[in-house]
Amino acid sequence: MNTVLVGAQWGDEGKGKVIDFLTEESDVVVRFQGGSNAGHTVVVGDKKYVLHLVPSGILHDGKHCVIGNGVVMDPFDLMRELEQVESWGFELKGRFHISERAQMVMQWHRALDKAEEAARPDGKKIGTTGRGIGPAYAAKVGRYGMRVGDILKPDFTDLVRDQVEDANRKLVALGAQPLDADEMVRLYTPMVAALMPYVTDTIQFLHEKLESKKSILFEGAQATMLDIDFGTYPFVTSSNPTAGGACTGSGVSPRAIDRVIGVVKLYTTRVGEGPFPTELFDADGETLRTRGGEFGATTGRPRRCGWFDAVVARYAQRVNGVDFWAMTKLDVLDTFPVVKICTGYRRDDGFVYTTFPADLAALKRCTPVYEEMPGWQCETSHITSYDALPANAKAYIARILELIGGKLGVLSVGPARETTLRINV
Ligand code: GDP
Ligand code: IMO
Ligand code: MG
Repeated sequence: MNTVLVGAQWGDEGKGKVIDFLTEESDVVVRFQGGSNAGHTVVVGDKKYVLHLVPSGILHDGKHCVIGNGVVMDPFDLMRELEQVESWGFELKGRFHISERAQMVMQWHRALDKAEEAARPDGKKIGTTGRGIGPAYAAKVGRYGMRVGDILKPDFTDLVRDQVEDANRKLVALGAQPLDADEMVRLYTPMVAALMPYVTDTIQFLHEKLESKKSILFEGAQATMLDIDFGTYPFVTSSNPTAGGACTGSGVSPRAIDRVIGVVKLYTTRVGEGPFPTELFDADGETLRTRGGEFGATTGRPRRCGWFDAVVARYAQRVNGVDFWAMTKLDVLDTFPVVKICTGYRRDDGFVYTTFPADLAALKRCTPVYEEMPGWQCETSHITSYDALPANAKAYIARILELIGGKLGVLSVGPARETTLRINV
């Protein structure tokens, strides 16, 4: 069984937790896009692990973890994270693999990310994570990027010098400090030896696994509404976190994918700038943020919070072909007397959108249309079976499923590993 897992909102849906849960029955976990902009949290006992580049399957000894060709990888972030994983007591040898086709995020991409963001006027800022993601993908698509395989080539230092020179022209034009090419060469030379043991042809590796009927789990980072094509462009990330990205970012064909799992929080959050129709600016929003611990796992920024948006989730169901949903953070809603579901966006001229519009100016003229349901006002985090849920919580979930399509596969009622209910998967 090969599974693609994707975020269905604006990220931070709890993908890391669900990946950790599904890794038990998988042999290989693959990251196929994004980079260290991701922050995936897994809580085991009283320990909290946050992973950025390394697949969340790493916390299960013996499982293989792959950084696929679609990822943009900052070697410094990666090395720091690998050291951390080892300090937590997990073995990496023989089970962590990096595609030689993956793109590198270099210091100049990070500098450009910050300089470009600083140069954007208010209203146009994206609120990036500052991890160099946009400039690294721009370099890839512009065909002047640096691939992991390039670090093993004899002309690596010339390539670094060329790239720094090119980036410096842009940095200076943006009013930022240029970088020193010699220093960059010095900085990156030791990386070669450090990364070498992990670099391999991951396409060949994954196909060998497929041929021996091993099961592969594709770990999406970011989410559908941050997708460069399907998200709230230009307030998006620079990759395809949607299900199609699993194939282009790994070298595995769509015919090998057996199912798609979408992860949704039972409310909505967003970090960074851009449209968010159900955003709350009142006490309810504050309650979601406080009870949900809604602060970024990568940047620590407070996340914007709002009601569940069925327009977004329905759109994500279609774009990704979600078979099963992993619904998370039910427990965060436990105290609300009333819970709301957004079913459409009403424009100021009366027109109601029931699918997500591409035109963000039109979206600005809209207000959400809500259905209200009674809350359950009791604790759910100790509950271990779907049947034992309060009737109003079941009704809330059932109404959401009716609106968005797909089946319920996993329900999460707390941050810890054991607070995960298997329903249909
Ligand atoms: P990801 O980026 O999709 O992996 O999600 P993050 O790790 O950035 O954010 C999800 C946060 O919610 C983490 O702090 C998780 O520990 C936490 N979390 C996940 N599922 C649940 C849940 O069902 N209930 C609660 N209260 N917290 C959860
Ligand atoms: P996970 O995998 C939430 C957001 C940033 C910004 C926009 C572009 O943890 O769900 P970027 O640095 O990618 O160029 O920033 O995307 N963003 C995320 N938001 N979760 C993430 O990852 C995100 N990765 C990027 O806040 O708005
Ligand atoms: Mg996150």
